[in-house]
Order: sequence, then structure tokens, then C-alpha cells
Amino acid sequence: MESSRNLFGLTAQAKARLLEKLAAARPGAAASEPEVVGDTGGGRLAITELDGYRELRVIAEAGDYLGIANPFFRMHEGIAGAETVIGNRTYLNFASYNYIGLNGDPRIAAAAKAAIDRYGTSVSASRPVSGERPIHRELEAALARLHGTEDAVVLVGGHSTNVTVIGHLLGRNDVIVHDSLIHNSIVQGAILSGARRVPFPHLDHAAADRLLGQARGRHGHALLVIEGHYSMDGDVPDLAAFVAIARKHRAWLMVDEAHALGVLGTRGFGSAERAGVDPREVDIWMGTLSKSLVSCGGYIAGSRDLIEYLKHMAPGFVFSVGMAPAAAATSLAALDILEREPERVAAVNARAALFLRLVREGGLDVGGSVGAAIVPVITGSSIRAGRLAHALFERGINVQPILYPAVPERAARLRFFLTAAHSEDQVRQAAAILLDEHRKVMAEPTDMIALTRHLGRRMTEAE
Ligand SMILES: Cc1ncc(COP(=O)(O)O)c(C=O)c1O
Repeated sequence: MESSRNLFGLTAQAKARLLEKLAAARPGAAASEPEVVGDTGGGRLAITELDGYRELRVIAEAGDYLGIANPFFRMHEGIAGAETVIGNRTYLNFASYNYIGLNGDPRIAAAAKAAIDRYGTSVSASRPVSGERPIHRELEAALARLHGTEDAVVLVGGHSTNVTVIGHLLGRNDVIVHDSLIHNSIVQGAILSGARRVPFPHLDHAAADRLLGQARGRHGHALLVIEGHYSMDGDVPDLAAFVAIARKHRAWLMVDEAHALGVLGTRGFGSAERAGVDPREVDIWMGTLSKSLVSCGGYIAGSRDLIEYLKHMAPGFVFSVGMAPAAAATSLAALDILEREPERVAAVNARAALFLRLVREGGLDVGGSVGAAIVPVITGSSIRAGRLAHALFERGINVQPILYPAVPERAARLRFFLTAAHSEDQVRQAAAILLDEHRKVMAEPTDMIALTRHLGRRMTEAE
């Protein structure tokens, strides 16, 4: 079997599929056929036989061909703030979620250390069975207060919070209607639940209303899910409209505030504050502790009934260890600072608004960003996004490219995260360099067909 594989570990069939997929990444190209599987003979099944693994190899080959250094897994040697050190060089950093500039704050570090001294580094059990500590309850009370809900529960991961909560609240007879650009964790939760999944076009509440209306009668429970501040685009939904749709169709409304907390609303309390919506109108507030709250974990805030149910039933809570004391103490201290220092919220919004204005005036495509913290620069081509990120890195700016297949090829982009820690000068400097490099990169031809041919040749060489 191995002898029929080429340099990339691909069978001829898999190679053909992959090339077809790459070609389909071009706008207007046809989608590939569904996979055909086979080879049930004996022997050891290698991970390298996975199509996804082989694609990794092809992507690396494409990077080499284009002369673009791998922008992933770069090693940061200290705290990633407005600046970061990579390979002994200091970069302006636009690739961290440190929205209100609290990572490394000595007050937070002291709170985390005190929690370790008092409770140790682990609670050593799940919360229901011996893992409960006062710091968990204090953090949950603070999150509930901030969101204006009756209660909250914290879990050890943001991604896994969405997976376990959605996966457990909904079942096979139910329907989940969600924004088409919703985060992967929500899609994974929906898949786990077995509910019917109905995406609606990004931000389009009229379509959500129509699709939910069409599906609702045939399903037991219904969940409408949106993000408060979309992580790839920096745009925001019409929250009041989504509340009305949820009520109209007797659906639960869930809002993921991962990128809204600390950023939206004058105090940074999130989407409800920004939209002037009563937070109790949203059934399920979800958030992560890993962005503005500079820790690790996820949470749900909502009614007492919801929280009680999740604390007793959600597998990712019941069968998982309680949050580490240092992680809980970090977020509790960060929340306290957020409440006391709203100027941080004003600062991140001012920096992002300035950056948005400068690059928009320079003619760049920033999509629908509201300029709250996330500003995409859409290049419309993964090759161009990769080249631009590479060129900026050479000039001392760390920013992450978002490439196909993470986004559709025509939506390939750089994503700038602005923070309260950036100075106005740093923002102006980055915008100027970006405009300069963008002009050069856009002037270069991007030949997807040549790239596809090159990859095809490389794969064939070893056959
Ligand atoms: C919208 C959204 N929800 C959930 C998550 C998962 O959170 P975490 O990274 O804390 O696991 C993310 C992560 O970036 C996110 O962007």
C-alpha cells in the first residue's frame, strides 16, 4: 500500500481530490465530489493517511513555493502585549486577545499567586465531588453581576463550554439556527447535540426569522445562536432584533460574548450594554475568560434554573475538573479592574477606531468592522494574505493571516486585534507600514493556477 503513495503520503485518488479542492478555492470554481473510501486490508493504520494530515503537507509545500515563512506556532518569549519578542526581536503585536491590556498586570499576577498559596495549583476534583472552592463562586457571582443575570457557571475551557452546553441542551428532535460565520465551538456543540443545524447569512436577522419560522413547527426545542462581536470580522448583530425573533418563535437566544466582553458598551459589559437591551432577554450568555479577562476558561450566565441544570447535567462540567484556582483568581481580579477602570474600554475602542479610519482612508477593505477591537484587512486571496503578513513581519509587525479553508478564499485576510495597551503612535506606525506593504503585495500577480500546477508536479515526482 505504501508504495502507491507519493512524497506527500497521498494516493493518486487523494491527490486528485486535493488538487480539485485547491482549484475549487478559486472564486466561482465548482465544489468537489464527496469522498470515496476503501482499503480495508490488514496492517497498521497511520495518522498520515488522514486527508487533513496530507493537506498540512501540501500547505507547507505551498508556503515554500511562495517564499512565505510559516506564520503559525511562532514562539513568543515573554508577555504578548502591545509589543512581543519573537526570536530575540521586538515586534509590534496585533495578534493577541489582550483587549484591555491586562495581561501581565501586577495586581492580577498577585491575585493569581495568592490563590495558589491558598488553594494550590489544582482543585484536584470536579466541582460536584470535592472540587468546589470559594474562588469559583466569587467569580460566578461577579460574572452574573456584570451580565445582569441571576447566576453563572464557569468551566475550564471556552471552546469546550460551547461544545458541552449546546451539545447537552439540545437533542435530535431540536433545531439550532445560527449565524453562518459562527465560531467553530458552536458548530461542534450543534453537531454533538444531533439537532438539525440551520445557518443563516451573516447578521441577516430577517433570514434568521424566516428559517426559524420554517423549521420551528417540526422540532421540539429551538436555539438561536449569534456572537455579540464577530471574531473574524469585528462586526456586530442587531441584538434587539434577535431577541424579538427568539420570542416570536419560542426559541432560546444564546449570545457568545467572547470578543464583546471588555470591548462593547461604555463600561465594556458587552452586547446588552451596547445595544441598550435588557440582559435578561437573552436566555444564555456565553463568554470566555481567555480574552479581556486574560485567563483560561469559559462561562455561561443566565437564569438560576439554567445554571442549576448545567451544574448538575452538563458533562463538560460534571465530569471535568473544577477551574484551577489561579485561573479563577486571574479573571476575578481582571473583572474588578474592568469595573474600576472603564478608561481601558475607551482606549481599546479609540485605538481600533483610529486604525480602522486610517486603513479605510488608505482604500483597504475592512469589511463591516465597527472598529471596536477587531479590524480585518481583506485581501481576497490566501496567497496575498500570506505574503502581506510575511512582509509585515519582516518590518516588525506581528499580525496573523486567516487563510482558506479557515475562511472562504475570497475572504482571506489579515486580522488585527487592537488593544488598550497600544499607543496612538504604534497604531499610526502600523497603519502606515500596512498601507505601504499592501500596495506592493497587491501589485504582484497571484497565480493560483501556477501554484496548483506546481503542487501537482511535486506530488507526481515521487509517484
Ligand atoms: C466566538 C468564540 N467563542 C468561543 C471561543 C473559544 O474560547 P477559548 O479560546 O477561550 O477556548 C472563541 C475563541 O477564540 C471565540 O472566538
